[in-house]
Amino acid sequence: MDLIFRRANLPDGRTNIDVGVEGKTIAAVAKNLPATAAVEVDAKGKLLSPPFVDSHFHLDAALSLGLPRLNRSGTLLEGIALWGELKPQLTHEAVAARALAYCDMAVTQGLLAIRSHVDVCDDRLLAVEALLQVKKEVADYLDLQLVAFPQDGLYRFPNAEKNLLRALDLGVDVVGGIPHFERTMVDGAASVKRLCEIAAERGLLVDMHCDESDDPQSRHIETLAAETKRLGLHNRVTGSHLTSMHSMDNYYVSKLIPLIVDSGVAAVANPLINVTLQGRHDTYPKRRGLTRVPELMMAGVPVAFGHDCVMDPWYSFGSGDMLEVAHMGVHVCQMTSLAAIQTCYDAVTVNAAQILHLDKYGIAEGNWADLVLLQAADPFEAIRLKATRLMVVRRGKIIARSAERTAELDLPGRPGNVSLNFVPGSVTG
Ligand code: FE2
Repeated sequence: MDLIFRRANLPDGRTNIDVGVEGKTIAAVAKNLPATAAVEVDAKGKLLSPPFVDSHFHLDAALSLGLPRLNRSGTLLEGIALWGELKPQLTHEAVAARALAYCDMAVTQGLLAIRSHVDVCDDRLLAVEALLQVKKEVADYLDLQLVAFPQDGLYRFPNAEKNLLRALDLGVDVVGGIPHFERTMVDGAASVKRLCEIAAERGLLVDMHCDESDDPQSRHIETLAAETKRLGLHNRVTGSHLTSMHSMDNYYVSKLIPLIVDSGVAAVANPLINVTLQGRHDTYPKRRGLTRVPELMMAGVPVAFGHDCVMDPWYSFGSGDMLEVAHMGVHVCQMTSLAAIQTCYDAVTVNAAQILHLDKYGIAEGNWADLVLLQAADPFEAIRLKATRLMVVRRGKIIARSAERTAELDLPGRPGNVSLNFVPGSVTG
């Protein structure tokens, strides 16, 4: 074999596992693998994971913080207005350079697949062309899936539909939308219908910003689920954000969630961003604004967590670390049992991979040899510590390494070297 990881823990709870790689794929997953390899890595009970997957991002805006100014109110609407100020100043080179810099950052964090929305409400389609170029440039080491996103509204922006169709013709993968930003509820519902029809005609996936609002009357998810059923798009449609569900009447939600399940629509929540953006019109109590993640999961809806923004008009922080996203998800959704923490890890790995329709993802024979070795024993510890990604493997090749995180302590009578890690396997039950 070419590469073997020995004595690894896997995210599904298996321990002391060897993972053998031949060429670009995983050749064996077993205990005490009777084989040798040119490169052998002793994981010593550390977590070997499939790569992190970001199911919701905006690569055209990433790392633009401060251009041309900061978001003073911290609201979604000022963020959109600020992006509108920046848009005419964008250049192809600057968008591509920032996107590539972010992809470098992502790879070091073991983030090897990103679904990024790209704004089509710019008649030049400058960001679309820049990100299509970046998609090609990074293809060997990162799966970049692009969503044609009419940021200013399909019906609110004059050329939005024409531009969206042009973007799809150029090779953008997924149909996006923003029904809650249209001028009226009727326009919002009409935009959902039209966009789903475009996806059905072209055989494409759909991922809409849907009901990113604190208004409990924002019910476009209902139309999205109904259109998904009508057009036979089962398992091909994602509702992103869905924050109005946080504020909806419980009786209505008891009818809505079964419709979402029935339609096969997936959900993406963005914990870092929505806990920051939502509830801005509230005094006290202030709503957290995240969608009903545990309830959707419990009902059987595939739910992933997205990063959404890094250093852009909507959010000033972030570093491409999906464990930071999962960490915030645990807190905001109060998913603190061991089982719930595990599902938060799934929300930035397997669930997100399912939503992106990634092929040959996961640690199993025949799948791509895409792996991340973490300085943690299990998903619990990985999220707790936002653990260092010691080694990142893409298609069988080691493409990034980080040194173990340790600290030296200079206190009399205390050990000199301090580790934040527990003994592997010490947290159970
Ligand atoms: Fe977004």
